[in-house]
Amino acid sequence: MAKLWGGRFSKDTNALVDAFNASIDYDKRLYKEDIRGSIAHTHMLAHQHIISEEDGQKIVDGLKEILSEMEGGTFAFKTELEDIHMNVEAALTDKIGAPGARLHTARSRNDQVALDMHMYMKKAVTEVMELLIKFEEALLTVAAKHQKTLMPGYTHLQRAQPITFCHHMLAYFNMFLRDFRRMEGVWKGADMMPLGAGAVAGTTLPIDRFQVAEELHFDQVYGNSMDAVSDRDYILEFLSAASICMMHLSRMSEEMCLWSSTEFGFIEFDDAFATGSSMMPQKKNPDISELVRGKTGRVYGSLMGMLTTIKGLPLAYNKDLQEDKEGLFDTIDTLKFSLTVYRDMILTMTVNKERMAEAVHKDYSNATDLADYLVKKGMPFRNAHKVVGEAVAYGIRNHKFLAEISMDEYKKFSPLFEADLLEALKPENCVAARTSYGGPAPSQNKIQLEKGHEQVEAQKKVLENLVSKL
Ligand code: ARG
Repeated sequence: MAKLWGGRFSKDTNALVDAFNASIDYDKRLYKEDIRGSIAHTHMLAHQHIISEEDGQKIVDGLKEILSEMEGGTFAFKTELEDIHMNVEAALTDKIGAPGARLHTARSRNDQVALDMHMYMKKAVTEVMELLIKFEEALLTVAAKHQKTLMPGYTHLQRAQPITFCHHMLAYFNMFLRDFRRMEGVWKGADMMPLGAGAVAGTTLPIDRFQVAEELHFDQVYGNSMDAVSDRDYILEFLSAASICMMHLSRMSEEMCLWSSTEFGFIEFDDAFATGSSMMPQKKNPDISELVRGKTGRVYGSLMGMLTTIKGLPLAYNKDLQEDKEGLFDTIDTLKFSLTVYRDMILTMTVNKERMAEAVHKDYSNATDLADYLVKKGMPFRNAHKVVGEAVAYGIRNHKFLAEISMDEYKKFSPLFEADLLEALKPENCVAARTSYGGPAPSQNKIQLEKGHEQVEAQKKVLENLVSKL
């Protein structure tokens, strides 16, 4: 098949080269952006009298027809035509004849693909942001239900101090709030219009890049043609933000796997969100969490892959840059899928409050509270730490938790111990007393839950504004 760039060639391309060069299998997902970009380009060419109004109209009509064929699944994509850009252009010329050959005036695929990718990135990032909001809302819902559900807070995966499940969920909520902010930054990086940079050095034709930017709702226009065609920072920014977001989901996954084990028994997934074993009839496995944890690796891989692909590239466009797509598309799909399934999974899981309560009651995680008790009675904290440490060692030796040691025994450790220590040791009181700002006390969590809802509402406004500028 004759190539759109075939003029200086005297042989057909080797079939392997066609196959190796082609990106159509994956870049066909840019078809909407490609056609919308071409329509804006055509409007501009006609407006600038670079092509006639009449040709412009024929091109636009032809492009719209191609769009509906693609949408209806009747368009025949051709590998020999390499990529989405040449598939569209060849189909246009087939359809409308001579005027079709004017579409690529003052344009290269280098700035064309950059335009498509910027537009696609802006759309994808808003979809991720929407899913982040939904996930944040799910976390708030679960947190709000468990304001009094006691559980141990861990350090070094050892029981440390009593907290609530609400507090634990709100910790994750805050991470995803930051992911949203990072995604907003990705939008800003992608909101710059590259078309008109040509292959590398602009064009001699009297184009108006700002008109194209305006029609496609771009806030800015690249100020350097070489940067415009070789910049992939916005993709790297997305891959970084996606990696961090997946890292958050992965940490959560690790906890979900632990918590759903018999050893912890803190949560149970709904049957619809767990899987069985082909051999062991009793098994109920947390596959979703494991997969999200596992998929985090491939998202990091895409980030590393892209950083590595670009690090040695001379300016400006090199075909290496075609490698920006698969990792990005895969990351978008992986992140969106993970956020979606995780939302439903946490909303349907059962929280075993009794098991969590047992883990704080049958434990020494109220030891810090006992030390604070002595501090309130006037003892320096370092001394209190030592006294309580001795009481804990005594308790372990004699198989008694702190609340089970008698008053007489306590008096041997310090005369400051009095009967009211029993109240101080109750896990619910320990948590309720942790009213320092951002602490786990239900009174603090209530404030944070309210604030959380306000933050989500503010993010919805941000998103609405971005979507209106797509
Ligand atoms: N498919 C190419 C890509 O994704 C489009 C640009 C190709 N440009 C070129 N001069 N071969 O990067």
